[in-house]
Amino acid sequence: MTPGSPGTSPLPSDRAAVERLAELIRGAGRIAFVTGAGMSTESGIPDFRSATGLYATGTPESIFDLDAFRRDPGPFFRYARGLFEAILAARPNAGHRAIAALQDRAGKEVDVATQNIDTLHQQAGTRRVYPLHGTVEWATCTGCGDRVAGESLWDVVRAGRVPWHSCGGVYKPDVVFFGEPLPEKTLWQARCAVAAADLVLVLGTSLTVYPAALLPGFRRRGAPVVVVNRTETPLDREAAVVFRRSIGEVLTEAVEALGV
Ligand code: OAD
Repeated sequence: MTPGSPGTSPLPSDRAAVERLAELIRGAGRIAFVTGAGMSTESGIPDFRSATGLYATGTPESIFDLDAFRRDPGPFFRYARGLFEAILAARPNAGHRAIAALQDRAGKEVDVATQNIDTLHQQAGTRRVYPLHGTVEWATCTGCGDRVAGESLWDVVRAGRVPWHSCGGVYKPDVVFFGEPLPEKTLWQARCAVAAADLVLVLGTSLTVYPAALLPGFRRRGAPVVVVNRTETPLDREAAVVFRRSIGEVLTEAVEALGV
């Protein structure tokens, strides 16, 4: 069998790694996932720090800076336009569906702590999702606190305008900017889920943004961690298994190996 030729399985070592992952999943009643932007690239949403990610292709990191937004929200809405367009058009991918399948078809207790604001885990049917950085579902006026559905702003934003409110404030999507605290209860739920899990899977995150990057460290002693990320992460050397390839592929193969 030639590795990589059409219709063949992945490299033998990789097949063994998938078997090992399936075995870890089989032995776990509770699985916690910590996910990042790489989870959604297969749905067409760019990540941040890959060679093709937003920060590497001209979007300044400062657009998510709270002080900068308060001084002038214009740059945020200009740069975020493409990202929000991609989020609105996106649908859950094979990776999101595989996680929901572990919950629905394999009968696992599944918790997902995600840094993603796109709601794709929720759309895939995963019940316990902790969106650590908020979501695009809602937006709140910085002046009077009026809250509206995020989608109601897109026509204005798409037209290149800033969604000002008549009170003089501006509608800011309910996503966490640098300089803002994470939603306390959500962070706590995520931390408890990781601490209670028999197995922790870390998917598509560079683990460079805190406090989300600390979450895998709350796993129980002896609870294995598995990393699926195209590029190296600081957690790789602690991981029972590391995959440097597509999350959708790896999770689909693992679910197939489970036979559910
Ligand atoms: P990053 O862009 O830092 O990391 C995404 C990781 O996913 C990269 O290391 C990629 O190699 C990997 N990756 C991409 N696509 C993949 C795929 N299909 N399969 C496997 N791996 C893949 O994104 P995050 O770690 O999520 O915060 O970034 C954390 C935070 O930084 C974001 O929530 C955002 C950003 O600034 C705020 O905006 C507050």
